Amino acid sequence: MKHLMNPLDLSVEELNRLLDLANDIEANPSRYSHSCEGKKLATLFYEPSTRTRLSFEAAMLNLGGSVLGFSSADSSSAAKGESVSDTIRIISCYADICAMRHPKEGAPLVASMKSSIPVINAGDGGHQHPTQTLTDLLTIRSLKGRLGDFTIGLCGDLKFGRTVHSLIQALVRYPNIHFVLISPEELRLPDNIRDEVLIKNNQDFREVVRLEDALPDLDLLYMTRVQKERFFNEEDYIRMKDFYILDKEKMKLAKEDMLVLHPLPRVNEISTEVDDDPRAVYFKQAQYGVYVRMALILTLLEVEVC
Ligand code: CP
Repeated sequence: MKHLMNPLDLSVEELNRLLDLANDIEANPSRYSHSCEGKKLATLFYEPSTRTRLSFEAAMLNLGGSVLGFSSADSSSAAKGESVSDTIRIISCYADICAMRHPKEGAPLVASMKSSIPVINAGDGGHQHPTQTLTDLLTIRSLKGRLGDFTIGLCGDLKFGRTVHSLIQALVRYPNIHFVLISPEELRLPDNIRDEVLIKNNQDFREVVRLEDALPDLDLLYMTRVQKERFFNEEDYIRMKDFYILDKEKMKLAKEDMLVLHPLPRVNEISTEVDDDPRAVYFKQAQYGVYVRMALILTLLEVEVC
């Protein structure tokens, strides 16, 4: 039985197979519409979510399966003090696979150790968000035609942004990628990712503060919001929250085929006037999230589709 805690839990070959499957699901949805009949997905969300929880649920429903779960710690027995370890033992009796989001780093890993069903990390604190990374990789590969040979700018809250941490880990396995880390000093990429992932893999990267300085070189711009829920005080958040605002004027500095991605939700960091720019693909990215989660459910449940 396989779990997904981290993008590196999948080899490059497994990842490529999963992305191929997601592309086939997109092209031939009816082929998969009964493939999980009789199977149940549990979504255990101890933190708020729109995309991840609902795209997981849409994915299972599209596969002909059923869904159950909770969308906040308060509406589960966690509010009475139940541990994640006990909860997963119970959920293992009710479902065939589960996706868990938790504010504590490592909570889904703890659950996976006590689970008799596959556990998917749907975001743990400021640590990892591997299924967002699968979504990002599918978006990039589908729209750029390749994973590799590009310059990507990662902009915003690189300190607390778990989507950025997971994406960097996944991308260092592909050739000829140049990273431009765009953040205010206080929200720089954590040392462990810079040292253990970028430097250890001899990865080319540079750090800049001004988005305008980076934009002309980029093939991909990955915007992120400032993670309000991870700040220790409101004042720091307010000072940082509008540090970057991508607008039409700034988009003039970018290449004509640069793509703008964002895991969403967006707050102010991308002006809504950018939404109509053909380079803005963040809503399409959210759609890819359904296909890739369908592919992941099929893969972890080892369902063969003829
Ligand atoms: N991208 C993402 O994780 O969005 P949600 O928080 O809405 O799930």
